[in-house]
Amino acid sequence: MRSTRKGRNTDTILPSEITPYEKYLSRRALLAGGLGAAALQALGAWATPARGQGAAALAFTRNAALSVEDPPNSYQDITTYNNYYEFGTAKSDPAERARDFQARPWSVAVGGEAEVTGRFTLEDIIEPHPLEERVYRFRCVEAWSMVIPWVGFPLGDLLKRFKPTSRAKYVAFKTLYDPKRMPGQTYRILDWPYVEGLRMDEAMHPLTLLAVGLYGKTLPNQNGAPLRLVTPWKYGFKSIKAIVAIDFVEKMPRTTWALSASDEYGFFANVNPEVDHPRWSQASERRIGAGLFGARRPTLPFNGYANQVASLYAGMDLRRNF
Ligand code: MTE
Repeated sequence: MRSTRKGRNTDTILPSEITPYEKYLSRRALLAGGLGAAALQALGAWATPARGQGAAALAFTRNAALSVEDPPNSYQDITTYNNYYEFGTAKSDPAERARDFQARPWSVAVGGEAEVTGRFTLEDIIEPHPLEERVYRFRCVEAWSMVIPWVGFPLGDLLKRFKPTSRAKYVAFKTLYDPKRMPGQTYRILDWPYVEGLRMDEAMHPLTLLAVGLYGKTLPNQNGAPLRLVTPWKYGFKSIKAIVAIDFVEKMPRTTWALSASDEYGFFANVNPEVDHPRWSQASERRIGAGLFGARRPTLPFNGYANQVASLYAGMDLRRNF
């Protein structure tokens, strides 16, 4: 990953630019109180924003048990400091260049080792699933981190609907390939389309989320609208954006960053403070938006989710399988 320093310095962000998570929560409570829970449900679990009108409100329940206590980053931080090379390599590029991207209509092609395959509309994919809000830590391989209130549902619940066969050992995901809509794809900085993958047990793990929103609204384009993966114990590059294909496969998929530099980015990419990136230490991280003094903090094994996920890797050498 290019360690670009071109992004804006969010440590110097003005307090007036920040929407604190508490404010968002109290606004939401007001809305729920005013409309009543039934009316909120009636708004539909899945609201479709009109063309060009930005994010639409979602109905969801909060999953406190699977949320961390860390204060979430502001909406401003989460939506202006991004990695999304389809729209450029600077942190500020995606917010600017993905503004007019049309994430609807959308469909996802499901294939490979499963009984149910074919092309599904975004609505087919999402509508059967109750949405949850989960506040997760997010750790980029570039050694910065955030805390993000995602809205989504467990990936495993979706995958079960396709009835994977016993030959399905991994799941592969692809991002849209359309250089006219994703101008970064006209540059050969990566092998397009962006591909990611998970081992089947990782994909079925209850922490693995398919995100359709954040801060209570549909995903902004720069964060991977309309559908992106979230695996909070892995480095952020695993969380592939704008998914158009899901394939059940027997062999470990060749993933984009591993293809680009196999000694720097592995398939598993579990957050591990003891295994440094060849070009920088992974022992600590810079929490975006935490000010000059609160910013540096130690990185936790599996990004703090070791209790939930370490057993997936029992017996594996995590230095070799990084
Ligand atoms: N998905 C696609 N398709 N293209 C990308 O460049 N960048 C990855 C990941 N998913 C990327 C992607 C990286 S390196 C990170 S850290 C996260 O998206 C950033 O997610 P965010 O911008 O929502 O914070």
